[in-house]
Amino acid sequence: MDKATELWLKSSLADGDASIVDGLVQMVRVRDPITASHLDAVGLLARRLAVTLELEEMTINRIVTAARLHDIGKTTISLHVLEKPGSLDEAEWQQMRRHPDLGATIVAGFPQLEKYRAIIRSHHERVDGRGYPDGLLGSEIPYESRIIAVAAAFHAMTVSRPYSRVRTPAQALAELMNCSGTQFEPEYVEAFVKTMGYRSRALRSA
Ligand SMILES: [Fe+2]
Repeated sequence: MDKATELWLKSSLADGDASIVDGLVQMVRVRDPITASHLDAVGLLARRLAVTLELEEMTINRIVTAARLHDIGKTTISLHVLEKPGSLDEAEWQQMRRHPDLGATIVAGFPQLEKYRAIIRSHHERVDGRGYPDGLLGSEIPYESRIIAVAAAFHAMTVSRPYSRVRTPAQALAELMNCSGTQFEPEYVEAFVKTMGYRSRALRSA
């Protein structure tokens, strides 16, 4: 992360939470730099989306901080599973699916981070109710989680990973649109497409 990005992330944090959040992200970075850079990037993308949505500054800060912590539960997953080049077997997938729940449990150890706990727990829920860990439906999912889910999926698709092919930004946005209304909140997909400087009609016909 360059200095300007680091300073910006620090300045956008909610009061008093900065050093705890920085420490937790640093813990992730030491063990698993790929997940840490995902947390940095999703923090930035979620902020841009929240600005497009014209949310209040305090809400934007809450979303950015939750985005920076959303995959903190991956520190409980073995590196063998996190770095596996192929698809996961059933036991590995079960381990992977526990990271939102365990991430929420980690932040529950910090009273100052209580406001992020439910957001972290629900970042893999889907608006059609087929997500995890709770199978929440639509507006039952915290809206901050629905915003972070869009930003996180976009970033995951646009970086090179051993187990998936890298997509161009336009391809990733088209995929978000394919999953709009099932996996993702349509309003947030549409706003994200706009945030990234594309028009949904152009992506549809691409
Ligand atoms: Fe996740």
